[in-house]
Amino acid sequence: METDPATDPADAERVLRRVAEAAPGYLASLAGRLVDDPAGRPLLAELAGPLPENGAGAEVAVEELLRIGTGAATHSSGPRFFHFVVGGATPAATAGDWIATLLDQNAVLWTSSPLATTAETVALGWLKDLFGLPAGWGGVLTPSATFANLTGLAAARHWWAARHGRDVAADGLAGLPAMPVLGGGYVHPSARKALQILGCGRDTVRTHTRDDAGRIDLDALATALEHTGPAVLIATAGEVNAGDFDPIDAMADLAAEHGCWLHVDGAFGLFAALSPRTEHLLRGIGRADSVAADAHKWLNVPYESGFAFARDPQALADAFGSWNAPYLVSTDTEVDYSRLGPESSRRARALPIWATLRAYGRSGYRAIVERNLDLTRRLGALVEAAPDLELLAPVRLCVACFRYRPPGVPEVALDELNARLGRALLATAGCTPGRRCTAGTRRCGRRSSTGAPRRPTSSCSSTWSGSWVSDSFKTWRERGRTVAPWHPDLT
Ligand SMILES: Cc1ncc(COP(=O)(O)O)c(C=O)c1O
Repeated sequence: METDPATDPADAERVLRRVAEAAPGYLASLAGRLVDDPAGRPLLAELAGPLPENGAGAEVAVEELLRIGTGAATHSSGPRFFHFVVGGATPAATAGDWIATLLDQNAVLWTSSPLATTAETVALGWLKDLFGLPAGWGGVLTPSATFANLTGLAAARHWWAARHGRDVAADGLAGLPAMPVLGGGYVHPSARKALQILGCGRDTVRTHTRDDAGRIDLDALATALEHTGPAVLIATAGEVNAGDFDPIDAMADLAAEHGCWLHVDGAFGLFAALSPRTEHLLRGIGRADSVAADAHKWLNVPYESGFAFARDPQALADAFGSWNAPYLVSTDTEVDYSRLGPESSRRARALPIWATLRAYGRSGYRAIVERNLDLTRRLGALVEAAPDLELLAPVRLCVACFRYRPPGVPEVALDELNARLGRALLATAGCTPGRRCTAGTRRCGRRSSTGAPRRPTSSCSSTWSGSWVSDSFKTWRERGRTVAPWHPDLT
């Protein structure tokens, strides 16, 4: 059959309606599904095959993709998934994302989409307000926290070069002294990746730690700054393994004393600002020069969504604004977000952010964050009370980090035992805790993040989610007992 999208205008209605019909059933099924269902794996082969010479038509294609997708996806936005720091998507954010696709705006310039540009300005303003950041800061939406780190660190790199009388955006790094980048042991690989892309080198970060977990040694950092002089400091708000925070205020003091650029990676930890119970963890954030965070984590909008802020809006324009092409027409009065961040053509990712903040507001997000805080604390307490489990780090935010430690198993055998437990859980129990290794000792445990509303539909009451934590907790212990007897060190 010869197919051409122009031949059947009714196609769009049929296929979009089909997806909308399928969506509620899929969402409702998440709580009962295995996160990583082996039965779905054979479906992946159905994606393959040669490029069709003649297409099958939109209805066939969409029907196939729905069947394969809903069967083979990692069902991570449901309540059984405790790995990574993965959000779900609120109903308003999902619908907002569909609208972004429907309207297919190019958010490159004001002239290409006044709608997307205005929504981005409003969304960034709301986000600053949500996190208590100054309204006058500059900002831009990015595809992820990695890109947000890239954005903040590109501004830092521009600052560094300007200190040496150079415009790095125009002339590059050649001839410049290496930019010193310092932090504690919590610096996320994503910040290193950003430095890698920026030509500063991912291994140039000098970390100063006072323990195996990676907590920062401020005295050592201060001593190092005596030698380096002005440098870039990276503070992590919400360390990915255990959810701890660098002391941002104290790092801001050092930054002020030594004339440094302070970049804060708050991919998910920035949301600590939403609760009076955790906002102290971010003390000093308003003194940062740049801040990076994700929206596809705790804001619970669909991938890809992050954002970066800079105290001085000009810093973003300096780092990204110099590219030019005569056909990209700017106005004198309106902002062009492609001149404030790394992308050129970009989707209107402000629309799902706008929709979800309009729908649930500050109080809705505080409720999500505090529900997750409660769940994580509850899980931490269950772990502490269990004789065969060990909490590997204090619960600070939305991450509980623990391992199975039945009596009689030697320390050297615990990593392997916990790795085996993880595989057993994944294969049979349908809940997915993460894997965590503490930096120095490489002790492996289960890392469990509750930082999402877990399908925040009406079914996401705290009782419902709470029972999931209890059930999953029971499963972890039961599977632990099943796995342990197979272990050679137990026999
Ligand atoms: C602290 C921190 N920074 C950066 C990232 C990278 O985020 P993304 O994968 O959205 O780029 C993560 C991911 O978990 C993170 O925890």
